[in-house]
Amino acid sequence: MYFPITRMRRLRKTEEIRNIVRETKLNKEDLIYPIYFKEALKGNEKEPITSMPGEFRYSLDSGVEFAKHLEEKGLKSIIVFGVPLENTKDKIATPAFKEDGIVQKAIARLKEETNLVVISDVCLCQYTSHGHCGLIVENENTDFGLEILNDESLEYIAKVAVSHAKAGADIVAPSDMMDGRVDAIREALDSEGFENVAIMSYSAKYASAFYEPFREAACSSPGLGHRKSYQMDPANAREAIRECELDVAEGADFLMVKPALPYLDIVRMVKDEFNLPLVAYNVSGEYSMIMAAIEKGYLTERAISESLLSIKRAGADLIITNFAPYVLENDLIE
Ligand code: PBG
Ligand code: ZN
Repeated sequence: MYFPITRMRRLRKTEEIRNIVRETKLNKEDLIYPIYFKEALKGNEKEPITSMPGEFRYSLDSGVEFAKHLEEKGLKSIIVFGVPLENTKDKIATPAFKEDGIVQKAIARLKEETNLVVISDVCLCQYTSHGHCGLIVENENTDFGLEILNDESLEYIAKVAVSHAKAGADIVAPSDMMDGRVDAIREALDSEGFENVAIMSYSAKYASAFYEPFREAACSSPGLGHRKSYQMDPANAREAIRECELDVAEGADFLMVKPALPYLDIVRMVKDEFNLPLVAYNVSGEYSMIMAAIEKGYLTERAISESLLSIKRAGADLIITNFAPYVLENDLIE
């Protein structure tokens, strides 16, 4: 009989041994919770999101209450999304940069009533009547008759970022994927005296099918067409490096890869190449996929901490995830 000298199983013998040799650990500090504030909800109303089991759209009051509850459970940071009144949407996303817009109010309340790091998603799509992340013009030469304008959109995206900074946001996070937006935002913030507001850029954001549940949650599906002319092609890896290089040059303070689980190779590449804090966005589709399987009994909740751990092992410093409440409430991490 053959006896191996090296026995890998020695270090797997007990939970205590496994714990001291564990290479990667998930901490509460790693989690950023995406919260959706809907302007049409009043008082303590909240509305279940059918495409995301266990998740809700919140009124100002109910959202702030939930954020406080999560803070008590150990949450450290939150990213705020807004769902404006349907009839206020227009071609230039006016409700996105109004001083008394839903996100601006939510940021102010969160800063007043919690010690959470408040991050704001900066984009136009929830606020435009056409649902695209930038301004549009008709153009027969594109595959759906619309062109999403780059340079004309930058001014509006910068305006949104400044309005969030005025409301008190610690960090603004542009998710639009227009070229030059980090530069435009940095310049606008600095000229308004917000040189200490940080930029978390959605650097490598792919045109992914995994955003579908979010688009229902935030009522932000493009009316016509798709986002492939501005978000990245899922087939491309090296292009992510170029996106990150540009964001670093333009003054980004954080880099991001989005989605997370189907793009862990990109997370690792970006981590190895750059020295900025790296965020991975564990998107709505990744959440709903696992939650649906748990509800059906095909998976157990262990799939949640395992996938978050895998994102961290791939190199993410921070993870934006709808699983944050579930993880904190069920003590899935210490
Ligand atoms: C909007 C935005 C999207 C997400 C975050 N900001 C959707 C999109 O680009 O279509 C996705 C979030 C998620 O799926 O959890 N720019
Ligand atoms: Zn958008």
